[in-house]
Amino acid sequence: MILLGIETSCDETAAAIVSADRRILAERVRSQMAIHRPFGGVVPELAARAHVERLAPMVEAVLAEAEVSLTDLDAVAVTAGPGLVGALLVGLVSAEALAYAAARPLVALNHLEAHALSPRLADPALDFPYLLLLVSGGHCQLLAVDGVGRYRRLATTIDDAAGEAFDKAAKLLGLGFPGGPAIEAAASGGNRQAVPLPRPLVGSAEPHFSFAGLKTALLRAVEGQRYAVPDLAASFQEAVADCLLDRTRLALARMPGARALVAAGGVAANRRIRARLEELAAQHGLPFVAPPLSLCTDNAAMVAWAGCERLAAGLPGFAPIARPRWPLDPQAEPVRGAGVKA
Ligand code: KG4
Ligand code: ZN
Repeated sequence: MILLGIETSCDETAAAIVSADRRILAERVRSQMAIHRPFGGVVPELAARAHVERLAPMVEAVLAEAEVSLTDLDAVAVTAGPGLVGALLVGLVSAEALAYAAARPLVALNHLEAHALSPRLADPALDFPYLLLLVSGGHCQLLAVDGVGRYRRLATTIDDAAGEAFDKAAKLLGLGFPGGPAIEAAASGGNRQAVPLPRPLVGSAEPHFSFAGLKTALLRAVEGQRYAVPDLAASFQEAVADCLLDRTRLALARMPGARALVAAGGVAANRRIRARLEELAAQHGLPFVAPPLSLCTDNAAMVAWAGCERLAAGLPGFAPIARPRWPLDPQAEPVRGAGVKA
């Protein structure tokens, strides 16, 4: 089985060809960071326009590199949400047209499902059920991945995603963008205990994340001018790590059958956070799995792979409608507070 995957939910245009035996035959990802940087955030209209310009040549390129034609495909998988409506529509209409031309099924799916299943593309030994910590600029969730199409959201963020917190903190400290790698680099010369910072929700029975208070506390510490940047960065990184660890520990306690602890998303690249998660998994006698970064950050191989998994499990795609908000677990209770992501 060979699938074409298409991803245009935000500011990355991506296409990939993946086979059911876990081979990525070709893949391309193009970031629009340079287009949006002057505006300090993603401009939806510009994102959609850039997808329109870039997607078709990209699909041609991956088909050529994989040496497959449209009719060699078994299906076309595409992200239908959550994301920016205009951006999603570009991927959806393109995928629909390609599937129609090839007379193959279209598998429209949830971007978070693609993240949830992507670790299995890299690691054939990874079996259900597992606990996934998905931490990036846009997501901060703990998901019980029980099987294909069976996900329970155990926790989400009340305010910022972890990567967003790193980005905002880096801005406060006058470090570059993206903030996570800049903070990690600055932290390597600092003292983790130097600056007293809060650990929002740590120890709470409420399973969720919150980073807004931490950011405000960092702002106060910066304004006080008593601390050096490396100490501020190291203390901030440790506070985020403590929050992620505590919430993950609670989720593990609520998921006794978990066979592995998996981390994905840009923040999972952080070496301190990775080391602490590895330690936590070992304490529970579980393997710690972190897929390569190219699979953790937004890409189309994970979309094609999620399509493979759905088809193999006999699950169809969803109606090809662009959905700006689309919780992966419809049973999940709404969380108090505003600005909750996906
Ligand atoms: O998954 P990703 O590449 O993109 C999306 O959010 O869609 O994640 C990017 C986020 C950024 O917020 C970035 O600051 C953070 O991941 N990040 C890190 C590190 N590398 C990237 N955070 C902490 N430490 C890192 N080494
Ligand atoms: Zn994503």
